[in-house]
Amino acid sequence: MAINKITVLGSGVMGHGIAQVSAMAGYSVILRDIEQSFLDKAMEKIKWSLSKMVEKQKLSQADADKIFARITPIVDLKTALKDADLLIEAVPEDMNLKKKVYAEIDSLAEQKTLYASNTSTLPITDMAALTSRPDRFIGLHFFNPPQLMPLVEVIPGNKTNNDMVVMAMDYCKKVGKQPVLCQKDVPGFIVNRVFIPLVHEAAHCMDRDGAKMTQIDSAVKFRLSFPMGIFELADYTGLDVIHKATVEMHMRDTKVINPHPAIKKLFEEKSLGQKTGKGFYEYKGDKYERINLTEQEAATYDPVKILAVAANNAAWLITKGVCNREDLEKALKLGMGLKKELFATVNEFGAKKVVDTLRQLAAKYGQFYEPDPYLVNYRG
Ligand code: 3HC
Repeated sequence: MAINKITVLGSGVMGHGIAQVSAMAGYSVILRDIEQSFLDKAMEKIKWSLSKMVEKQKLSQADADKIFARITPIVDLKTALKDADLLIEAVPEDMNLKKKVYAEIDSLAEQKTLYASNTSTLPITDMAALTSRPDRFIGLHFFNPPQLMPLVEVIPGNKTNNDMVVMAMDYCKKVGKQPVLCQKDVPGFIVNRVFIPLVHEAAHCMDRDGAKMTQIDSAVKFRLSFPMGIFELADYTGLDVIHKATVEMHMRDTKVINPHPAIKKLFEEKSLGQKTGKGFYEYKGDKYERINLTEQEAATYDPVKILAVAANNAAWLITKGVCNREDLEKALKLGMGLKKELFATVNEFGAKKVVDTLRQLAAKYGQFYEPDPYLVNYRG
């Protein structure tokens, strides 16, 4: 399974980043999208990202130029798939769209082409079954921004062969990432099972506790050791991504999320976050911008409910054997940038307080909050 040529399908937030990290590792990359204007925008973002790396002396200008030249943007699918060793699909998260896309790919791809999907929530086994090669299909889930986040979740479907797992692990290492094997094809895999429900929980906290967004976000950043606030991270990730992930995850398992209507509303209003200049917050443009969060504001809000929901979903992953505690903490550190282990933060707040909070929430708002047995038995 020698990989030289990679075709990345979809040039959005994830696709352009995956193309860039692949080119940085020396692969020859085709970036494909349905319109030239999308590709132009993606190539501009790659140029910006490379220039940031030059500015920070992580790359020389000459290397940045070589990397940029390794990426060829192409609209025509047949040309884009020619001679591809590995296809990485990063089109929007909609099963009907994926069906259409895989039917098209399958009619054009060469026999040797291996398939990987950057899906964040859709079942790998079901997607693999749409293709002629379920044994050579795998989930390769990168994190935003792929250029900076070191994690890739590797998710085999039930027919994926072992050579594919080895190839995927190897590819991740070559592009400088740290893979974590997701042992079960569950909704949200590891990190999104923890992250996506938190966006909804933060919105519930706003209603239930009458707290301001910056109060909650400051508390999450400074008291739960996240690199960004939750609303800030949702805007950064994109409300379209959050909404689609919510729908898919909730459809497969109602215990994973307690949906808050604000997310769907923002999605329908096309307030998609930073990329549209407005999401939960408002932005000056569509470029990388941070929200001003402070330790003073953090002191005015107790984020235990947010911690409790994060810990409960994390506990569920361990109980179900999706990952062990070590891989869970590794994934949260590398995929969400957590500066402290989640269960170390639980210890700090007190495991009893966390479980009691969940029980109180369950009594008021239903079984979504019922504490997982791992957490109930957790003694720090
Ligand atoms: N390429 C190169 N440089 C970039 C970049 C990119 N794509 N994006 C941002 N940067 C630069 C910034 O411009 C900034 O440069 P500056 O110092 O010159 O201003 C620098 O990197 C980052 O510095 P900051 O001080 O603003 O920020 P941080 O030190 O906090 O790091 C971060 C930024 C890595 C984004 C960090 O905040 C973080 O880890 N955030 C959490 C991200 C996260 O959780 N991602 C996962 C979301 S879930 C997901 O993706 C799954 C999906 O399926 C939904």
